[in-house]
Amino acid sequence: MALNVEEMSIFCKKKGFVFQSAEIYGGLSGFFDYGPLGVELKNNLKQSWYKYIITNRPNVVAQDGSIITNPKVWKASGHLDNFADLVLTTKKTKTKIRADHFIEEKLKISAEGLKAIDINKLVKENNLTYNGEDFEEVKDFNLMFSTHVGPAADSSNVAYLRPETCQSIFPNFKLIAEVCRQKLPFGIGQIGKAFRNEISPRDFLFRQREFEQMELEFFTHPEETTCVDLVNKHKQLKFQFFSAKAQDANSDAVEMASISELLEKGLLSEWHAYWLAEMYFWYVEELGIKKENIRVREHTKKELSHYSSATFDIDYKFPFGFKEVMGIADRGQYDLQQHMKHSSQKLELFDDASGKSVVPRVIEPSQGLDRLFLAILFEAYEDDKERGNIVLHLNQKLSPYYCAIFPLVKNKPELLAKAEEIYDSLRKKFPCYFDVSGSVGRRYARADEIGVRYCITVDFESLEDNAVTLRDRETTDQERISLEKLQARLFELR
Ligand code: GLY
Repeated sequence: MALNVEEMSIFCKKKGFVFQSAEIYGGLSGFFDYGPLGVELKNNLKQSWYKYIITNRPNVVAQDGSIITNPKVWKASGHLDNFADLVLTTKKTKTKIRADHFIEEKLKISAEGLKAIDINKLVKENNLTYNGEDFEEVKDFNLMFSTHVGPAADSSNVAYLRPETCQSIFPNFKLIAEVCRQKLPFGIGQIGKAFRNEISPRDFLFRQREFEQMELEFFTHPEETTCVDLVNKHKQLKFQFFSAKAQDANSDAVEMASISELLEKGLLSEWHAYWLAEMYFWYVEELGIKKENIRVREHTKKELSHYSSATFDIDYKFPFGFKEVMGIADRGQYDLQQHMKHSSQKLELFDDASGKSVVPRVIEPSQGLDRLFLAILFEAYEDDKERGNIVLHLNQKLSPYYCAIFPLVKNKPELLAKAEEIYDSLRKKFPCYFDVSGSVGRRYARADEIGVRYCITVDFESLEDNAVTLRDRETTDQERISLEKLQARLFELR
């Protein structure tokens, strides 16, 4: 990784991964469109998550909830009252700035969990201004986008675009448990869009106003403290760890820690530890992210979200620092109890063992998909000086294309026809594309730049020996392979 986030956004546009939304009109801050290659990569990430979280587990099911729902959901969840950032407004031009980011940039201190009173004090003590302008008193700014449902536009029909996907899972949880005959522990997962009216979107896909989440709500028996699935593999997992204790002491010391050590210190429950380890394994074993580029960060008490008793983030080492790509929170019984209170419905499950109805506890691994997409691109990107081109070392299951088919020349009809025939048969099996333009070297370079794993060249000899050249993006090694064996070989390499 050698480029900054601005350069990455240019690369993404040039290669068809991501564009500004409606760029011909100047775009709209915090909104992006995924281009053809971006859609492929994003879909592959979704599929990987879906398989890992839902398909592979007998006790996790999926749902797809609506983006707009009854606004009582947001009262119950606490978002109407608590989901706000602090905003500083300048006195003259009324410029609005996110207060914690401003304090961090100006004073080089962590602003996590600072209250309005702390911000006002820091602004005063340090005579902070913006372009020479003084500030008004800091204010709360609720991050939910509001709209109106139906033709009238008054306070009686206000509704909100969901700021997190999981809130449509909690009201459905009893219904889903019953129709799917699930017993505790079990989970409901969901992939979908969420919206936050960020005061200052920044860092390309990292902080957007419209984004996608992949969230799992995992329900456990409230008295079951032992996680049956927590085996030695989880307990022995070691990772870079940034503790709340170090952050509280204003230290940036990151230590190596294991899941066992976190459990011994009583920092999290067994189910929480299990999901933290599972998600870490997904990053490293399935997505191919290097361990040195991720760390686990414990939330300090003062920054915890209103629903959480403990949260651990998985942070990725972006060029702009280690930043959260996933949060794994212990939401306890908060959400179900809130929805019971506000709906007057019982969101309990009958427990055969104790003969009692219980309100489950919830562990939530919450994945920001766009952030992960960005992390995956930074992880894969290399400006390979020896080859003289960029190489995206994407895990081949995530690559937009697994292979590309090149006829050596375009002016020999038999050769072109043979290459097209190969392309027609392969594209039904693997994501692939056909490229005839430029030299083969240039086509290899273009393929490297978008992470294609295998290039298949059809040359003059192919017409004689019914074989092609298979070139591997990682090694640049080439092997000659007969057409009868090509498909089986590609399946084997997949
Ligand atoms: N559901 C947790 C979050 O959106 O941050």
